[in-house]
Amino acid sequence: MKVLMVGDVAGAPGRRLLMREAERLKSEGAVDLIVANVENAAGGKGLTPPLADTLFAAGVDVLTLGDHAWDRRDIIPYLSQEPRLIRPVNFAPGCPGRGCTTLYAGRTRVSVISLIGRVFMNPAYDCPFRAVDAVLSEQADLGTVILVDFHAEATSEKIVMGRYLDGRVSAVVGSHTHVQTSDETVLPGGTAYLTDLGMTGAKDSAIGRDLESVTQMFLTGMPAAFKIAQEGVALEGALVEIRPRTGRATRIRRVRITE
Ligand SMILES: [Fe+2]
Ligand SMILES: [Fe+2]
Repeated sequence: MKVLMVGDVAGAPGRRLLMREAERLKSEGAVDLIVANVENAAGGKGLTPPLADTLFAAGVDVLTLGDHAWDRRDIIPYLSQEPRLIRPVNFAPGCPGRGCTTLYAGRTRVSVISLIGRVFMNPAYDCPFRAVDAVLSEQADLGTVILVDFHAEATSEKIVMGRYLDGRVSAVVGSHTHVQTSDETVLPGGTAYLTDLGMTGAKDSAIGRDLESVTQMFLTGMPAAFKIAQEGVALEGALVEIRPRTGRATRIRRVRITE
């Protein structure tokens, strides 16, 4: 089976291209499942229920979140009623929503797990390694194919997670930095790995935000309202090929589709 994992969707330009490509790839039968990180889909900050609905309608199967999960509070009730939208499993106990979802892609049962890192990130998050161990050992109904979105800043934490899960899941891909890395590989145990998927949004920008306002923030140290940039839009991510019967990855390719 072919799975498209999509890097952080930044605002309307990223949503438009993701919807166009999801509709095209699904109608051509080029991919079986699409997972997208959408923590920046609503103007760069979080996600709203209507935007989630439009992405699902376009053919995106699972939506993942990250440190921007709570930027739009109207997503909170939606999170508890929509199983296809997940937030990191290692958020503090009691946080709304779930961190793992299981669905069918054709006849293949697929689980998607969202994790968040702790290095240079909010210290309130629980250990992602112990959290994913708990999901893999305690959740009895997981699919044969298991996909992990590790939303983290530090390359070392992501590389170690890939190796830690090698042979236990089908793919570990990183999100959050908005910058695609070139280290895609199938690890010795059959887990596809890429440190960061990149970003789906305007590349002529500061990781999706308008360059002018971000530059002013760096020059003055003062907070600024960041607008979403509009130019040079691209979809970035990875296409992973997986044997449905074993859950082992056979191939991973970086993806960059320009508008
Ligand atoms: Fe993030
Ligand atoms: Fe992001």
